[in-house]
This record gives sequence, structure tokens and C-alpha cells, in this order.
Amino acid sequence: MRPISKSILAAGVAAAALLGTNFAASAQEVIKFAHVVAPNTPKGQGAEFFKKRAEEILGDKVKIEVYPNSQLFDDSKVLAAILRGDVQFGAPSLAKFGKWTKKLQVYDLPFLFKDMDAVSCFQNGEKGQELLGSMSSKGLTGVGYWHNGLKQLSANKPLRMPTDAEGLKFRIQSSDVIAAQFEAVDAVPQKMAFSETYSALQTGVVDGQENTWSNIYSKKFFEVQDYISESNHGLLDYMVVTSTKWWEGLDPEIREGLAQAMTEASEYANNLSADLTAEQRQAVIDSGETEVLQLTDAEFAAWRDAVKPVWNEFADDIGQDIIDAAAACN
Ligand code: LMR
Repeated sequence: MRPISKSILAAGVAAAALLGTNFAASAQEVIKFAHVVAPNTPKGQGAEFFKKRAEEILGDKVKIEVYPNSQLFDDSKVLAAILRGDVQFGAPSLAKFGKWTKKLQVYDLPFLFKDMDAVSCFQNGEKGQELLGSMSSKGLTGVGYWHNGLKQLSANKPLRMPTDAEGLKFRIQSSDVIAAQFEAVDAVPQKMAFSETYSALQTGVVDGQENTWSNIYSKKFFEVQDYISESNHGLLDYMVVTSTKWWEGLDPEIREGLAQAMTEASEYANNLSADLTAEQRQAVIDSGETEVLQLTDAEFAAWRDAVKPVWNEFADDIGQDIIDAAAACN
């Protein structure tokens, strides 16, 4: 056998080292999580917590990159991006899934949940858990629910009765149920990206909007709206989603570590949301930039009556069994 020359050996060692390096690099899963809100929100904090825990549990095997504030994708693009593999996790509001499944529209029905405990009851129950799989035929898996909170109604005029909203234009999320809710009070809904809302309110493209205290505070909507009615008339929560193919193709150790981090992050975000909501609601009131209106029982009843027909309108699409299970949590 001919002796292997020193230079061939050296080249071999160098190649192996290179291969080793590449192997190490490709063994690390770089995982992107894109969302549209600010970091100081329940979803923003939940995503950061998920990153921290996943990297603690899995060490160098994963690197989680969180992209807040619509930096990477807005909600109209993120689900297709997940399917393409351009991003691995997103957490759109439950109002943004209409193109993918009609069942999640349940979450947009006005005055469906009396408080966030009722929301947790439904999400943790049988029907709520089933809904995590409602987009399986589209290749998307829901891996958890994260709370934001109940929505408030704002405009540049006081909205006490449904008739006060007549003819006003409201920025809404991309949900047909929310559009029907505003149409039921003869207002004009305009679907619009979250990132465009502040300037649409500021320039008068729309007259009002509905959102949670956390989003109203962190995106400064209160600075460009004279009145906020504390209506708690609907829910804005999230489903954290990923690609089924990617998730199932992961090394089992990585998938289990991520699932563990996700469970902990969901618990963290869901516990945090109530405190952040209370804190940021108070900050909006203290700012003195807007007037927060409390509705009387009669005013609440008038809003409830005006928008209740929306439930029937969407019952077939959603499924009456799902609506009943949600209502039973009150
Ligand atoms: C909105 O568009 O108002 C919300 O869905 C934003 C968010 O993610 O909370």
C-alpha cells in the first residue's frame, strides 16, 4: 500500500474540519417567530419568553429569532410564509383566519364571552382544543392559544348608543364577523392591516376602531381618538401556528423541547395579559389624551341587541355546537 502523503492527509483533515463545521451549523435549527404587535404586549412578551425557554431547554440546537411590529410579515401574509418555510411560527389574532377556516369565526361573535375566564374555559375545553386542529387540511397546526383581552370601541365622538356609530368608518381586522357587527349598527367597516391603523386614525381615513387596551396603548391609538367606550364587546386573542409538515419533520428531541417551551410561554402570556391590560388601561386614562366612557346597563343592552343577529348569520359556518360550547362557559 502506498503511504498517504502528508499534503493529502492535511487536505483530508481540513475537509473533515470543514464538514464538521457545516454539520454543526446545519444541526442548529434557526426558528423565526413573526408577529405584528409591540414587544411590551402579551403576545410580544409571550414570544420573548418562548425564545428564552426554548434556548434554555435545547441549548445550541436551536436559535429563535423573534420579529415584532410586522417587521417580517403582516398577518395577511404570515400563514402562507409559514407554509413556504420562510418563518416557522406566527400568532395572528383569531380574527385573521377566515380564509383558512370558518370555525374560528366563533371567537369574533360580539358579546360571546363575559370575561377572560370564560375565554380560558372554552379554549381549554374539548371544542376549543379541537379548533387548534381546524386548519390541518391546509397544512397548519395550532400549538396554543394566547390571550390579549377584550376589545374597546373608540372614535372622535362619544359612542354610548349603537346609533352613535351610524355612518362612521371603523378600521377592523380582516374578519367578516366583525364587518357584520359594524354593519349591524349602520357603521362602515374597513379591513386594514394593524400597521396602518394609527395613521388611518390620525389622518381621518377612518373615524374609529376597536381593539384591546394593550394594543390601544402600545400603538398609541388613544392619542388620535378623543373617546374610548369601555365596551368589552368582543375578544382579541391569538392562535400560535406552525407548519404541520415542518413540525412533524423535526428531530423529536427538538420538537419536544419546543412543545415544552410553548406550553410554558402560553401559561406565561396568559397570566401576564390581565396585569398588562389593567396597567395599560390605567396608563391610557392617566394620559388625559382621551376620555374613557363607562356605559350604563341600558346602553350595554342596546349594543347587545343591535349586534345579536350576527350570531345567527354565522351559525352555519361556525357550527352551532361550537357556539353553544363557548356560550356555556359564561
Ligand atoms: C389587529 O390587527 O388589530 C390585531 O390583530 C393586532 C394583534 O396582533 O393584536
